[in-house]
Amino acid sequence: MGPKTNTLTDTFGRAHSYLRISLTERCNLRCTYCMPAAGVPLSPKAHLMTADEVYAIAKTFVDHGVTKIRLTGGEPLVRKDFREILQKLASLPVRMGITTNGITVDRFIADFKKNNLKDINVSLDSLDVQKFKDITRRDYFERVYNNILLLEKEGFNVKVNVVLIKDFNDSEIVDFIGLTKDLNISVRFIEFMPFDGNKWNVKKMVSYAEIMKLVNTAYTSEKLLRLQDAPNDTTKNYSIKGFKGSFGIISSVSNPFCDSCNRLRLTANGCLKNCLFSSSESNLLGLFREGKSIIPSIAKAVKAKQKIRGEMDTLEKLKESNLHSKNRSMITIGG
Ligand code: GTP
Ligand code: 5AD
Ligand code: SF4
Repeated sequence: MGPKTNTLTDTFGRAHSYLRISLTERCNLRCTYCMPAAGVPLSPKAHLMTADEVYAIAKTFVDHGVTKIRLTGGEPLVRKDFREILQKLASLPVRMGITTNGITVDRFIADFKKNNLKDINVSLDSLDVQKFKDITRRDYFERVYNNILLLEKEGFNVKVNVVLIKDFNDSEIVDFIGLTKDLNISVRFIEFMPFDGNKWNVKKMVSYAEIMKLVNTAYTSEKLLRLQDAPNDTTKNYSIKGFKGSFGIISSVSNPFCDSCNRLRLTANGCLKNCLFSSSESNLLGLFREGKSIIPSIAKAVKAKQKIRGEMDTLEKLKESNLHSKNRSMITIGG
């Protein structure tokens, strides 16, 4: 079957052409909004996809219309066979990206270039060394910051992800936008989202409206430009006149963008999630290991995709903490 089949089109007519593959549940940071302090129970290694399994499962998606793959984690670069996986996936006709915490990207520059991986999203939630340490529970600010500079210098398409937490880093919004003056990067402010064990509360979230209020105070309407967003973009994009880079807002909580969703997620243990917030999963790896076709299960999962944020289609439902714990911790989803 080729890409013209409708295996990846859901009941709302959304065609899924973007697969996010989590390569590992491990991470070398401990971000508070992503995982509980005590960590999460890890899948036994034998339950994780091998490099060959990642490739074979990804290829099935590509055969059915996926044109973009983003590698996520945990932290994808801690996977020992990362280079092997990258090289295998690079033989597929897809645009490839990675979302990383940036700690070790300097060791992979040549691999990214050789395998045509251009889209690199790096998480950085504060420009203050101590705050970085507070949120990540680790002391790697300098490495991450310098690696962002390196990636930009090397010509990658760099996006910096900033999860905003009320009264913690919302005072840094203008400083982050300041980075885009001389750096050709996109800084994205992300509304804090609820997942199992991350102690989410709507009061900790900084909304799109609040962010724009601060931006409008710092920049006049002549200086602030609303940019054209790419199709299926998670982000509402802006720039400041004369600045090299841009910035944007990912408003999954206050303004979900699910009507244009083209994303599916494959977890490190081989389960398909039809939505970031879905509580049900399909164990593709289990079927694959039994030698069965995974296509009927993929089609079924895609058809079962709900319209908005899984079961949490309203803000009221998003506030119900019992629904958060039906989903995984973010560290085992990969964003
Ligand atoms: P691009 O491929 O560059 O568009 O990146 P991306 O925004 O898809 O991915 P990234 O991994 O950088 O994620 C940035 C933020 O967007 C994270 O907080 C993700 O959880 C969130 N995000 C990514 N995809 C989705 C999605 O399908 N739905 C929702 N609600 N949030 C998403
Ligand atoms: N809310 C919003 N974004 C989150 N991320 C991790 N946890 C959350 C959360 N609770 C972001 C990370 C990373 C991306 C994959 O997801 O900052 O950049
Ligand atoms: Fe897609 Fe679910 Fe994200 Fe909405 S919340 S954009 S449906 S993955």
